[in-house]
Amino acid sequence: MKIVNIVGARPNLMKIAPLIAEMQRFSDIEPVLVHTGQHYDDNMSEVFFKELGIPQPDYNLGVGPGTHTWQTAQVMLALEPLLQELRPDLVLVVGDVNSTLAAALVAAKVCIPLAHVEAGLRSFDRTMPEEINRVITDALADYLFTTERSANENLQQEGIPDHRVFFVGNVMIDTLLHHRQRAEALGMPARYGVSGNGYALLTLHRPSNVDVREVLGGILNALDSLQSRLPVLFPAHPRTMRRLAENGFLERIKTMPNLRLIEPLGYLEFLGLMAQARLMLTDSGGIQEETTALGIPCLTLRENTERPITIEMGTNRLAGNRKESILNAYEDFARNETRNCSIPPKWDGKAADRIVEILKNI
Ligand code: UD1
Repeated sequence: MKIVNIVGARPNLMKIAPLIAEMQRFSDIEPVLVHTGQHYDDNMSEVFFKELGIPQPDYNLGVGPGTHTWQTAQVMLALEPLLQELRPDLVLVVGDVNSTLAAALVAAKVCIPLAHVEAGLRSFDRTMPEEINRVITDALADYLFTTERSANENLQQEGIPDHRVFFVGNVMIDTLLHHRQRAEALGMPARYGVSGNGYALLTLHRPSNVDVREVLGGILNALDSLQSRLPVLFPAHPRTMRRLAENGFLERIKTMPNLRLIEPLGYLEFLGLMAQARLMLTDSGGIQEETTALGIPCLTLRENTERPITIEMGTNRLAGNRKESILNAYEDFARNETRNCSIPPKWDGKAADRIVEILKNI
């Protein structure tokens, strides 16, 4: 069984790692890895291959940055002849990035069965690029693997037949559980002069938060007040770094002594910091799930989430992206600071095993 696995952006890599490792255990499965090149900086891509033991891609489409339409189209143009040449038995995509959508469209057009890992998540916000990617990928997929029960309900409401949908758990949490000890042993907080449980960790990259000057400025206002109470470490995505510079906000950050802007980190370094943080602030989807698995309180700088289980489990709360709403959420957190250690069903490190077992029998 030849399976073409597609990755493109950073959050795909921690999802594909356990799947490839599991596929490699079976002599009758031939995993082929294709990197679209959506993310291309070493610290957004290469470092994750090394740390997570992902084999080097068999093919790199070298697409790079562009508008969403351009990027999606470039992946499609490059992938179509490759899939026609390889004629795999299955194309497997993960997550919700533009590369996921592009590969799903090509697989469907050239009539190759498609599996989508992390299917069914819905923010119900179609201004979010990932939501479009999720809805279309799921409509095209033959095998849909879900991380939480709400995803099964969403798919059912969209008319996807039940027999295509499999509730298997969360492959990203497979990776987290596998690497957690090694990451914590790095002693990351000390490297940044903070103590365990004595800092907040921040990530920010969503266009709706960083591309509009007023919104980004409002978030910085909230951070200004927050950093005077708890040191904040801020590994910044390249898009965010560019927006901070373009808007003259780097000077502003220099006036905040406890907000520490740093380069994007590797997987282990970031996990090491996240696992020992007092609080996470983020607009990422995956980090909402990772903090749930770690029991770390998380304020999500968005109005909605496609991952409601993270709120049900008690670690995550929506803080919006305005100064007042962020500070209110922070006050609320500071008043009722508790650690919550309920782990969602099937987030047990075995999701990749379940997926590959199902794929072997299709
Ligand atoms: C993409 C995903 C998003 C995911 C995020 C994680 C889509 C629609 N979005 O968003 O869901 O949460 O990845 O990071 O697919 N850049 C670099 N070097 C890189 C990668 C990006 O400099 O290695 C810069 C590029 O100039 C690019 C910008 O960052 O224009 C944004 O990259 P892009 O891949 O378009 O989207 P992300 O914001 O990373």
